[in-house]
Amino acid sequence: MLLMLVGLPARGKTFIGRKLARYLSWLGYRTRVFNVGSYRRERLGSYQPHSFFSPDNLRGEEARRRLAELALEDALGWFSGVGDVAIYDATNTTRERRDFVRHRAEREGIKVLCIETICDDEAIIEQNIRETKLTSPDYLGIDPEQAVRDFRARIDHYARVYEPVGEDEGAYIKVVNVGRQVVTHRLQGYLPGRLVFFLMNLHIVPRPLWLTRHGESLYNLEGRIGGDAELSPRGERYAQALTGWMHDHATGEYGVWTSTLRRAAQTARHLPVPAVAWRALDEIDAGVCDGMTYEQVREELPQEFEARQRDKLRFRYPRGESYEDVIQRLEPVIIELERQQNPVLVVTHRAVLRALYAYFMDRPPEDCTRLDIPLHTVLELTPRAYGCEEKLHPIAV
Ligand code: SIN
Repeated sequence: MLLMLVGLPARGKTFIGRKLARYLSWLGYRTRVFNVGSYRRERLGSYQPHSFFSPDNLRGEEARRRLAELALEDALGWFSGVGDVAIYDATNTTRERRDFVRHRAEREGIKVLCIETICDDEAIIEQNIRETKLTSPDYLGIDPEQAVRDFRARIDHYARVYEPVGEDEGAYIKVVNVGRQVVTHRLQGYLPGRLVFFLMNLHIVPRPLWLTRHGESLYNLEGRIGGDAELSPRGERYAQALTGWMHDHATGEYGVWTSTLRRAAQTARHLPVPAVAWRALDEIDAGVCDGMTYEQVREELPQEFEARQRDKLRFRYPRGESYEDVIQRLEPVIIELERQQNPVLVVTHRAVLRALYAYFMDRPPEDCTRLDIPLHTVLELTPRAYGCEEKLHPIAV
C-alpha cells in the first residue's frame, strides 16, 4: 500500500509519516518513507529561496515535478523488492498531482491511501516551523527570523494552489490539528483501520517515558527464566531507591504501569502512585522452559536451544511465546503510551522492555532480541520532533 501524504508545509506530514513508518516497521510491515524534500536537497542543494516553490516559477515547478516523480518511482520500486508499505511524503497539494500519483501506482497494482494533515491552529504551525524547519538543512546558517519569513512565504505559495482531498478521490484519512479530529472516507481492510486508531491517539505534548526492569528477583539470582518469583533483598533495595529517584526526577503527575507479575508489582510498591497492572506487560512466556536455566535448556532441549540461537525473533518457546508474539500483544500498550499526556513509569521485564525500546527508538524488530537492558537502571526516553532522546540512569543499590 502507498500512503500518500497531503498537506501544506509545516502541517506535520513528516512527523506523521515517520511515526507511521516506525509503528508499521515495529509491527513487521516493511515500510520506508520517500521524502521529496530530501530528493530536492540531494539533487539541487539544501537551500532554495521561497520563489523556487512559487507556482509562477515555471522552471521551479518543472524541477519540483521531476523530483516528485523520481521519489514516486523509487517508492513504487520498493514494492518490487521487499516492501509492504511506502510512505510518499510530499505536499501533493493539487488534485492534478494526486491523480497522477494514484494512476501511476494503480497501474502497478498498488493501492493508494491519502493521509491529509490539516492544521489551522497557529500555535501548532508556529511550533512546527520553529522546532523542525529552523533546524532543517534547508536553513542551515541562515538567520532564524529570515528563515521563518522565507518559510512562511513558501507556505503561501502552496496555499494559493492547495485543493483539499475530495470525496471522489478514493480512500482517505484527514488528520486535523494533530489528531484532535480524524475524518475517514471509504476505508476498507484491517491495516487502514489500525492506522486510523493510531492517528487518533497521537499528540505532540512532550513528556518523558521512564522504563525499568523490576528489581533483582530470586530467580535472577539462580539464573532461571520466567516464573513469578519475589524480589531478592537487593531487588527490594532497588524498589526503595527507585522511589527516591522518582521523587527527585518526576515533577508533577505521572502514571505507573507494571506487569501482573510479583517482581514488577513489588518494585513499584513504595511509589506514591498506585500502579496499573497490565497482563500485556508480562515477561515473554517461556512455555515448557519456564523456571529452567539457559544451561538446562541447552542440555535438556538442545533442538529448541539451537533454534532460538538461530532466530531469536521468531523462535517460539514450546507452549510459550516468541518475541514477535510479544510485539503483537504490546500494541495496545504502545497506543496507550502514545495517548498519555503525563509521563509514565513502566516497570516490566527484559524482553518486553526490548520490544518497547525498539518501538520508541525506531530499531528494527531483529534488534529487539539483542538490546542490552541492564537491571537497576532507569531508561529515560523523551520524544523530540522526529524521534526520542535517550538517557540511562543507573541506580546504585
Ligand atoms: C520540498 O521540496 O521540500 C517538497 C516539495 C513538495 O512536496 O512539494
